[in-house]
Order: sequence, then structure tokens, then C-alpha cells
Amino acid sequence: MLNIVILAAGLGKRMQSDLPKVLHPIAGKPMLAHVLDNARRLNPDRIIVVVGHGAEQVQAGFADQSDLDFVIQRPQQGTGHAVQQAVPLLRDSGNDSDATLVLYGDVPLVQSETLSRLLDARADGMAVLTEKLADPAGYGRIVRDGSGRVVRIVEHKDASAQEHAINEVNTGILVAPTASLKNWLSRINNDNAQGEYYLTDVVGLSVQDGVAVSAAHPGAGWETLGVNSRIQQAQLERIWQGEQARRLLELGVTLADPARFDVRGSLTCGRDVFIDVGCVFEGRVELADGVRIGPHCVIKDAVIGAGTHIEAFSHVQEAAVADQARIGPYARLRPGADIGSHAHVGNFVEIKKSRLGEGSKANHLAYIGDAQIGARVNIGAGTITCNYDGVNKFQTIIEDDAFIGSDTQLVAPVKVGQGATLGAGTTLTKDAPAQQLTISRTAQKTIVGWVRPTKKS
Ligand code: UD1
Ligand code: CA
Repeated sequence: MLNIVILAAGLGKRMQSDLPKVLHPIAGKPMLAHVLDNARRLNPDRIIVVVGHGAEQVQAGFADQSDLDFVIQRPQQGTGHAVQQAVPLLRDSGNDSDATLVLYGDVPLVQSETLSRLLDARADGMAVLTEKLADPAGYGRIVRDGSGRVVRIVEHKDASAQEHAINEVNTGILVAPTASLKNWLSRINNDNAQGEYYLTDVVGLSVQDGVAVSAAHPGAGWETLGVNSRIQQAQLERIWQGEQARRLLELGVTLADPARFDVRGSLTCGRDVFIDVGCVFEGRVELADGVRIGPHCVIKDAVIGAGTHIEAFSHVQEAAVADQARIGPYARLRPGADIGSHAHVGNFVEIKKSRLGEGSKANHLAYIGDAQIGARVNIGAGTITCNYDGVNKFQTIIEDDAFIGSDTQLVAPVKVGQGATLGAGTTLTKDAPAQQLTISRTAQKTIVGWVRPTKKS
């Protein structure tokens, strides 16, 4: 049985924020959510989050996640005291194979592979995640005996000059046999420099009880970086974005500049995808083979078909674009936009809850909302579907091969038949029959002999 306890009671004073620290995002997702994602990959039997400062806000942020238990730690009397609060909820069958893993809510990027290695390292004993740092100041130090066995952890503030020279530090993440951990936690005290109950004291108690303590190490140094300030948050954000960029480059994606690229969600790419600078991908985005994304595009929850180009400064959200289409520059595809293959959507064209059929074109300055547009339709510049009467929304239907002249208003509900042509400037309030020219326009006239007014002096 595996329990995971996530410590998230701390104040996070240096964030200078009303938002509890663990709710601050990395890559668009709260830090605590990153920890939970990696925790869940270990298939634990129970996840307990220890909250304190901003407890209500943290709990509210995860209220829909039924596999979590929250316990409150008030006041905060140290990491050992925090884990003590979770003890009544720890599941164990009295077997040494039952384990409790302790993670920090403000160390968001520790990877599940690293945690698996830590679990493997413990056998039936205890294991701590440690690393060697050039500058170990501030951290708890790993004290080993003459034969290299871990004997205890000493906090920086309690350490001797000799112990300060140790460069192997405690990352804070550890795993212990659950029944023993409960026992050790009942024996720790706060007789130390900070007057706190240290979780790290269980290491010494474990050794005293003859339970071996092993060490495992993170796959990468950034995995154990904690966030205490906006500066550290920004640094971790860049590290994580760099990591995502590196993974995509390894998979064959071309990034014009891996340092000017942000993924806040998941981005899946086919072969030979090109992404220019300054793009932001949010939610779940899929780019098929040969897709090109121009500079400074924002793409959220979208599927883009093979060979499609999205040109500079386009905004795409909850939309689907088929293959070989051309979108932008400056296009906006809003939720429910469904763009057919070989279709073109040009500058300052906004499309919402509408289908634009195969090979159809809306190249300039148009609003298309709640419309079903067939194949090979041409939508002239300045076309607007008047889909909203201030209360309800109505559909516009445009059948295959229709030609919509520039500056046309289609007052929905209205239908344009197959192959119909609408003259420029038409305000269409009744259906336009197939194959015919429909036009609504006052007759043009010229006032002969008209004179321009002149300025009065
Ligand atoms: C802790 C470790 C230290 C390690 C360091 C790594 C102890 C005694 N020390 O020190 O060996 O090198 O982390 O960063 O464990 N928290 C609570 N309740 C509390 C206290 C802390 O939930 O009462 C949470 C904090 O919100 C934070 C985590 O526990 O997420 C660590 O607390 P922090 O105060 O940063 O620990 P350190 O003193 O840095
Ligand atoms: Ca810390």
C-alpha cells in the first residue's frame, strides 16, 4: 500500500500574493497540480495534502478531485508536525512493504521516474532523495558514517562547521515504511535551533531502530528546485519550457527559437512541424505532419491538419482545421470553428461555431458566426453574418459554390442556395435562390451640376 503525503501548509510570504503559493502556476497549471500528476503516476492508494495557509482556497481549487484527502495543519510547527497531521489517514496493513512517500507542494517538477527510483531504492526500509550541490547552504545535510551509510540529517541551522562542509543535501523528499514512520513521528521533538518538529529526524530514528536508509538521486537537478519567490517561479517556468522544447526538438519538430516558445498544456506534433517564435500553446493541441505555425500565434485546444499553415498573429481556440488550409495572418478562430481542407481564412476574419467547407475562402475582414458554409464558397471582404438579434442566435446556411459579394450582411436565419451569387453590399433578409444573382441595393444616381460646399469665412 502506498500513501503519498504532500506538504502544502506553508505561507509563501515571499510570493507577495493573496494566492496560496501552491496555486501559483508553472506552465499554466498550479504547482500542486504538477505534483499531483506525478504522484498519481505511481498509482498510490491514498494521497493526502497537508494544507494550512489559504487552506480553503487550496481545497476549493481541487474540490473536484475525489482521490484527494486534505488535512489541516494550524499552526505550522515544522515538516515533521505536518506529516503527523496526516498520520490518522495513512493506510497500512502492518506490512513493511507499505510505504509513505512525502512530497512538497512547492517543488512542482519532480518527475515520476525519479520517484519510482526512490521507491525502488528503499527495499523495505527508508530512502531519501539527495543530491550534491556546489553551494549547499541552507539545506539539511546528509551525514554518513565511515562506510558511507546514511546515519542522520542535520539541518543547516543545527549543523557544526564540519557538517556545513558536507555538500550532499536533503531535497526533502523521502519514503518510509508506514507503520515505522508513525512510530518515529511519535518520538520526534522540537529541541533544535528552530524549535520545530523536523521530519528529517525520522532518519536518525530509523538508523537507531536498525532500519537501513538508502539514498536515491533526481534524474535532473531542476526536478528538486522549490519555489519560494516570483523569481524562482519565473526561473522554473523557463527551465520547464526549455525542457518541453528539448523534447519536441528530439522528436523532430523545428522551433525557430526554443527559448521563445511556451506550452501550457500538451502539444503533440507530427513529422516536420515548424513553429516560429513567440507562440503559446494551451490545453491540448495537436499539429499534424508538415504544419507550419507563424510567429506570435496563440493556439488553444485545437487540432490542425497536415500541411496547414497558420500565419503570424493568429488566435485559434477550441477549433479544428483540416489539412492544407491557410489561416491568417491575423485570423481568429473561436470555439466551434471547423475549417475544411484547402480552405483559406485571411486577415481580420473571425469565425465562431461555424463550418467553412472544403476549398472555401474568407480572405479579408469578415465575421462568420453560427453558419454552415459548403465547399468552394467565396466570402467577400466585409461579409457579416448577423446571427444575433440581441436575445437569440440564428443560423446562416450557404450552400456549395455560392459567391458572397463584398460588404454583405446575412440577416439570420437565412439561406443562400447552391451556386447563388450575392451582389456586393447586399443586406440579405430572405433566402437567396440557387444559381441566381440576388442583390439589395438602392439604385445609383448622379446629381448633375451639384456643387461642393465651400468654407464660410
Ligand atoms: C526542509 C528540510 C531540509 C531540506 C529542505 C529542502 C526539514 C526539517 N528540513 O527544510 O532538510 O534540505 O526542506 O528544501 O524537513 N511545510 C508545511 N508545514 C510546516 C513546515 C513546512 O507544510 O509546518 C511545508 C512547506 O510549505 C514546504 C515544505 O514543507 O512545502 C518544506 O518546508 P520549508 O520550510 O521550506 O523547509 P526547510 O526549512 O527549507
Ligand atoms: Ca525550503
